[in-house]
Amino acid sequence: MTGGTTPNAIRGAGPSGVSIEAADLTRRFGSFVAVDRVSFQVGAGEVFGFLGANGAGKTTAIRMLTGLLAPSGGRARVAGHDVYTESEAIKRSIGYMSQRFSLYEDLTVWENVRLYGGIYDLPSREIRARADQMLSRLGLEHARSQQVRALPLGWRQKLALSVALLHRPRIVFLDEPTSGVDPVTRRQFWELIYETAAAGTTVLVSTHYMDEAEYCDRISIMVAGRIGALGTPKELKERFAVPSIDELFVRLARPSSNGAPPQTPPRSLAGPPASRSALSQRDPERDRGTKDEKS
Ligand SMILES: Nc1ncnc2c1ncn2[C@@H]1O[C@H](COP(=O)(O)OP(=O)(O)O)[C@@H](O)[C@H]1O
Ligand SMILES: [Mg+2]
Repeated sequence: MTGGTTPNAIRGAGPSGVSIEAADLTRRFGSFVAVDRVSFQVGAGEVFGFLGANGAGKTTAIRMLTGLLAPSGGRARVAGHDVYTESEAIKRSIGYMSQRFSLYEDLTVWENVRLYGGIYDLPSREIRARADQMLSRLGLEHARSQQVRALPLGWRQKLALSVALLHRPRIVFLDEPTSGVDPVTRRQFWELIYETAAAGTTVLVSTHYMDEAEYCDRISIMVAGRIGALGTPKELKERFAVPSIDELFVRLARPSSNGAPPQTPPRSLAGPPASRSALSQRDPERDRGTKDEKS
């Protein structure tokens, strides 16, 4: 866990300093087990990468953690609230950017902000103030009256993240926010993630781009519903003696290693974010050595 005991870090946590905890969390669809006894904890202010190929079970796990889908078994607490009995309290404590685009494309930028601000019960004055702040930070003031569908995908994703943070949640769940986004915009999006975490919000972010692992404090790699590996990128590379997380993923996905069916190898991200200063400041020890350069 990073973030330690700074006041910001504590903001995202339940009483234990842990933002998200899952123990043997399981979801079945009929006889098919989509999420299979998954256990992990995410500390306050941490950027936790939820890696896995398509179909690995990431979205299903996130839907259970956000209180949208009832688990079939196991336990989980988010911001100190139980997923079985306190899903309403969870929804108030979190932001969620779903895998499918979560803003209304036929509404303008401002109309989306006003709509979500209303859903989060923010007073109108507060919504206006936060919208001004957010649009100026994103450099999107000019787009206030534009329909969201007119914006490039990268901008829509940045806007969607900002809207998911409008009510200043302690924890934000981002489900493949960079999927389909060009590499340059993807780097900018990660900068926004770092800023979010630096402000004390816990970030759980799923991705099938293995290179994005390097941008996370810790990662889990899901393979066929199970967590195949969990730790910091550096720890995992050392433990499994692999040069990259991409390599580790391929190894975990091999049927001989864990009995799971082979999966499509993930695509890689071309390079690191333009500036990693925000993250470097938070964790100077983090490994910056290895980058996958596959296309
Ligand atoms: N509502 C559902 N009914 C049946 N199967 C589902 C349902 N939702 C997801 N699945 C299956 O569960 C597996 C995991 O899906 P998902 O959690 O979406 O994976 P990921 O987000 O990692 O791509 C997939 O095989 C998917 O087809
Ligand atoms: Mg998914």
